[in-house]
Amino acid sequence: MSHTPSPMPALPAFQSRVVPVIALHDVAHAVPLAEALLAGGIDVMEITLRTPQGLACIAAVARAVPAMQLGAGTVTQAADVQRVVDAGARFALSPGCTPTLVDAVRAAQLPFVPGVMTPSEVMTARDHGFRLMKLFPAAQAGGLAMLQALGGPLADVRFCPTGGISPDNLASFLQQKNVAMVGGSWLTPADALAAHDWPRITQLARAATQAAAAA
Ligand code: 3PG
Repeated sequence: MSHTPSPMPALPAFQSRVVPVIALHDVAHAVPLAEALLAGGIDVMEITLRTPQGLACIAAVARAVPAMQLGAGTVTQAADVQRVVDAGARFALSPGCTPTLVDAVRAAQLPFVPGVMTPSEVMTARDHGFRLMKLFPAAQAGGLAMLQALGGPLADVRFCPTGGISPDNLASFLQQKNVAMVGGSWLTPADALAAHDWPRITQLARAATQAAAAA
């Protein structure tokens, strides 16, 4: 049996090709962090559900920082979807992709970036109607060489590699023609968050923005 899935809504538009991936432990950090990233030219962020505070952090940024295109990350179960919609996330990302998760994001009409690591997973996600996928964990999946290899037979899919991306290698990833953007946690070091060192976050964001522009 074959069927054409109904189209999924597009991701909100954002400028940054670098997506900070953040696990926050303190709701008070969420808004100043979002503002610090924006000040450094980064208008998208992925706040993960990896910590108990994640959902409240999403709600705080959604309320206070409308210029930030806010994604909810580590959305791994159908039940997560309505929770992140209610909190105000504009899209969701996942380390993987399951039929129940796809049904839930489709029902909620929530833009979604599924996670993939193999050609069959890419093909399955494409069958569900997705053309932008998170390659996760990117380094362990084979990094640049894997993206190049996927670009041959699966040239109509674009990726956001995440996992192992750093200031040193982000340009080489962004230069790949099937890489739309990269994700990573280096922009939000735990010690900078703990110290409320927002200028350092802005500096890291600015450096990443400049590196991405040069790539
Ligand atoms: C994660 O697993 O936390 C994200 O994929 C980010 O990976 P990174 O810490 O290697 O950037």
